Amino acid sequence: MSALLHVEGLTKRFGGLTAVKNVSFALEPGEITGILGPNGAGKTTLFNLLTGFMRPDRGTIGFDGVPLIGVAPHRIVNRGLARTFQLTRPFIGMTVVENVVVGCLAPRVRAEGHTEARARDMLDRVGLGAKANVMVDALSYGDLRRLEIARELVTRPKLLLLDEPFAGLGTSEIEPLAALIRELHKSEGLTILIIEHRLREFMQLVRRVIAMDFGEIIATGSPAEIVRHPRVIEAYIGRGGDDLEARLGVAPENARGIA
Ligand SMILES: Nc1ncnc2c1ncn2[C@@H]1O[C@H](COP(=O)(O)OP(=O)(O)O)[C@@H](O)[C@H]1O
Ligand SMILES: [Mg+2]
Repeated sequence: MSALLHVEGLTKRFGGLTAVKNVSFALEPGEITGILGPNGAGKTTLFNLLTGFMRPDRGTIGFDGVPLIGVAPHRIVNRGLARTFQLTRPFIGMTVVENVVVGCLAPRVRAEGHTEARARDMLDRVGLGAKANVMVDALSYGDLRRLEIARELVTRPKLLLLDEPFAGLGTSEIEPLAALIRELHKSEGLTILIIEHRLREFMQLVRRVIAMDFGEIIATGSPAEIVRHPRVIEAYIGRGGDDLEARLGVAPENARGIA
């Protein structure tokens, strides 16, 4: 009942394809939860539904006690639900700090004033303080992820959705970014829902995992439970011959037996 986000029976079809099928779950405040699933499982579509970029065919979304269906994306941000994108979307031709100032202008926080000072503070927090005056075009993928997180955090979200924050990053950039996410979660008590493919880091980051396949939730549990779950193993090993143990950084004793 105290859930921050409550999703019930969410369904989204594209023509004959059901990208999200009867998805129900709840997020408690302060939780860090992961969404796992092969390509095409419906993870990004789920984020698009939660943030108002797409309208579901069926189902309900309750956020902070208020229904969200039919609410425009910018109004959803204003209620405290922010997201980052699988492909980062910086405002090209602007500096790093100007990109974050845009986030400070959200009605939710606009009245606080001191926009540039707040933007610079946030850049310090995400480790981009020294690059505040650089043009965004010059940033690495890792820095773009940090910028995007800063731009969302200045809106003071209650829930932050991260869509594959480690995608395209080199190994040396992943661990520091994972550490930043962990630190933001701890210091802000921020509730986080994260989609990720870099499973080793992901499994160390999240407390609970929701596993999806073909639009449906196939399992929910701790990372250790999830890597042992027959349907998760089937979704990964049954199709591509992937080495689940190596990819997850956790040893599921029965993975090969079932595969
Ligand atoms: N705008 C769209 N129009 C048609 N099909 C889409 C659209 N967005 C996603 N899909 C399809 O829905 C399925 C789920 O996609 P997506 O949510 O992006 O998966 P994931 O993020 O888990 O990789 C895929 O089969 C994809 O091709
Ligand atoms: Mg996706």
